[in-house]
Amino acid sequence: MDAISVIRTKRDRGELTPEQIDWVIDAYTRGEVADEQMSALAMAILLNGMNRTEIARWTAAMIASGERMNFDSLSRPTTDKHSTGGVGDKITLPLAPLVAACGAAVPQLSGRGLGHTGGTLDKLESIPGWRANLSNAEMLGVLDTTGAVICAAGDGLAPADKKLYALRDVTGTVEAIPLIASSIMSKKIAEGTGALVLDVKVGSGAFMKTIEDARELASTMVALGTDSGVRTVALLTDMATPLGLTAGNALEVRESVEVLAGGGPKDVIDLTLALAREMLDAAGLGDADPEKALADGSAMDVWRRMISAQGGDPDATLPVAREQHVVTAPSTGVLTRLDAYDIGVAAWRLGAGRARKEDPVQAGAGIELHAKPGDTVTAGQPLLTLHTDTPEKFDYALKALPSSYDIAPAGTDFTATPVVRERIA
Ligand code: URA
Repeated sequence: MDAISVIRTKRDRGELTPEQIDWVIDAYTRGEVADEQMSALAMAILLNGMNRTEIARWTAAMIASGERMNFDSLSRPTTDKHSTGGVGDKITLPLAPLVAACGAAVPQLSGRGLGHTGGTLDKLESIPGWRANLSNAEMLGVLDTTGAVICAAGDGLAPADKKLYALRDVTGTVEAIPLIASSIMSKKIAEGTGALVLDVKVGSGAFMKTIEDARELASTMVALGTDSGVRTVALLTDMATPLGLTAGNALEVRESVEVLAGGGPKDVIDLTLALAREMLDAAGLGDADPEKALADGSAMDVWRRMISAQGGDPDATLPVAREQHVVTAPSTGVLTRLDAYDIGVAAWRLGAGRARKEDPVQAGAGIELHAKPGDTVTAGQPLLTLHTDTPEKFDYALKALPSSYDIAPAGTDFTATPVVRERIA
C-alpha cells in the first residue's frame, strides 16, 4: 500500500477499498503518510466525494485510531448533543445541565472556536477558575455526581481526526460532507454515548449554506450513528442570523445564565427546549418535562454544581471588555436580515475568536445585538454594540459589517424563519 496510489484512486473518481482506507488513516496517524499527501487526498475527497460505504469505513478507521470510552458504570442513560457550529451558538451551556436535571447523564465533549464560529470551551473559560481539561476519571466523576460534564476531548479519542481536522483547517478542506460527517461521528461514537442529537446548522453562518447540503450531512451522520448502535436524530436549525442576542465568550455565558434563570431570548429558549426534548426522548426519558426544569431552577442548580466541580465560581463576575463601540440603525423600519456570518467574522476580529489554534481569545470581546429580524428599529437607535480590549480592532471589525443587515420600510410584512427547520431520524 502507498499513499500515491490511494490519492490517485480518489483523484480519478474511484471508490477507495476498505484496505486502502484502514491503511491511510493508520499510516497518517503514525506519521508515515505526510501532511502534504493527506492534504491532496482530503482535497480529492472534497472534490469527488465518498459513498456511504467509504464514509462508514473511514469513520470506523478514525475510531480505531484511539480509545473508546465507556459509561456503563453510570446509573443514568447517556445522551449527548453535537452542533455543527454557528454564531452565538451557546446552547450547550443551558442544555447540558437542563437535560441532566431531567434524569439523563450528559457527557459533552466540546471544542474550541476556530474561524468565525465560537467554541464552547472558550466560552466557559471566561468563568474564573473553570477548567476544560479533565482526565477520563475526573470526567466520569463530574458526570456521576452532577449529571453533566462539559470538557475537552482527551488526546486518546480519535487522534486521527485531531490531526486531520487541523490539516483540513489550513488546506481549505473543511467543507466536505464526508469529512465533516466522519469527523463528528468518529468522536461521538468513540465517546460511547447511548443517544445523540445532532444540531445541523444551515445558513450563512454555518458550514452548510443550503438546506439540501444540510439534509445530506444530517442523513449521513444519522446513518453512521444508527449503524453503530447509537440512537441518533438530527434537527436542521437556522443559522442565517445569530442565535440569541450575543456572540462572544463571556457575553454568551451571561446570556446562557439568563436562560437558566428563566429569562433570555426566545430563540435560545426554543432551541434549548427542542434539543432537550429530543435528547431525553432518545435516552428513553420522553416523559420528563424540560420546561418545568428550566422554570423551577433545577437546571440552574445542576449548572452551579457542574461549574463548581470543574473549579469555576458560578457567582464570579464575568469579564467585561475595556472598550465599546455602538453601531446605530441608519433608518427607521423593519429589520429583515442580520447576517450570521458577518457578525461572526466581526466578533472574531474583535478578539472573540482565533486565527491559529494556539492564539489566545479575549473573554470579553464580541457583539451584542439590540434587534433581531422582525423587530422594528428607529433611525439612530443602537443596533449592535461591539466589545473589545483592543480598540484598534474596531475598524477591521466594522469592515465586516456594512452589508450585514437590511432595514425595510415600516409596515413591511416579515415572517421569521423558524429556529428548527426540519427533523431527520
Ligand atoms: N466539527 C467537527 O468536529 N468536525 C468537522 O469536520 C466540522 C465540524
